[in-house]
Amino acid sequence: MEAIQTPSNVTEFTDPSLEVLFSAEQIRERIRELGRTITSDYQGKELVLVGVLKGSCIFMADLMREIDLPLTIDFMSVSSYKDGTVSTGDVEILKDLSNPIRGKHVLVIEDIVDTGLTLTRLLEILGSRGADSIRLASFLDKPEPRIKKELVIDYTGFVVPNRFVVGYGLDAAGRYRNLPFIAVLTSAETKT
Ligand code: IMP
Ligand code: MG
Repeated sequence: MEAIQTPSNVTEFTDPSLEVLFSAEQIRERIRELGRTITSDYQGKELVLVGVLKGSCIFMADLMREIDLPLTIDFMSVSSYKDGTVSTGDVEILKDLSNPIRGKHVLVIEDIVDTGLTLTRLLEILGSRGADSIRLASFLDKPEPRIKKELVIDYTGFVVPNRFVVGYGLDAAGRYRNLPFIAVLTSAETKT
């Protein structure tokens, strides 16, 4: 089979504009720890993991295999209304949950919390549906641009600086989600 060629002949994994922040091995170890904590926190509870599409897909797939409890999964997809490049905090539900969450313990799984506007609105929406508890697990926390300072992230993978990161589910214009590590995309930063 012919290899997919990019114009400069670099592969997605060796793109020179990528600066690795967290390796696949570091990520694996951190997720194991998170899984152990979540397993002990949710003993005897009916846990539903709610993944926020699309960025959380890889984190969720890895994390759920480190949680040693009976659980179910569901997904939501939301789009933030942006005013130019600035998030306004309004979200439109593109795909809602498949099942009710009344009486369940919900753990929302997100890729990264930045301003916190999207998540705050999403948690408000879910908050009106009668769940026994709703908590948030975010793979990355980028605290510097946070507008919703009161947003609590119950489980965080890593804290990142205020730079544009990709990989492990996170994208730049749809690309780089398949990288097994987290990297700063330096070309995205020089463009803006
Ligand atoms: P906010 O917290 O409402 O600003 O939005 C967070 C969303 O913005 C995340 O779910 C990502 O989709 C996206 N995002 C924020 N920072 C980054 C980044 O550094 N890389 C990739 N996506 C990002
Ligand atoms: Mg997202």
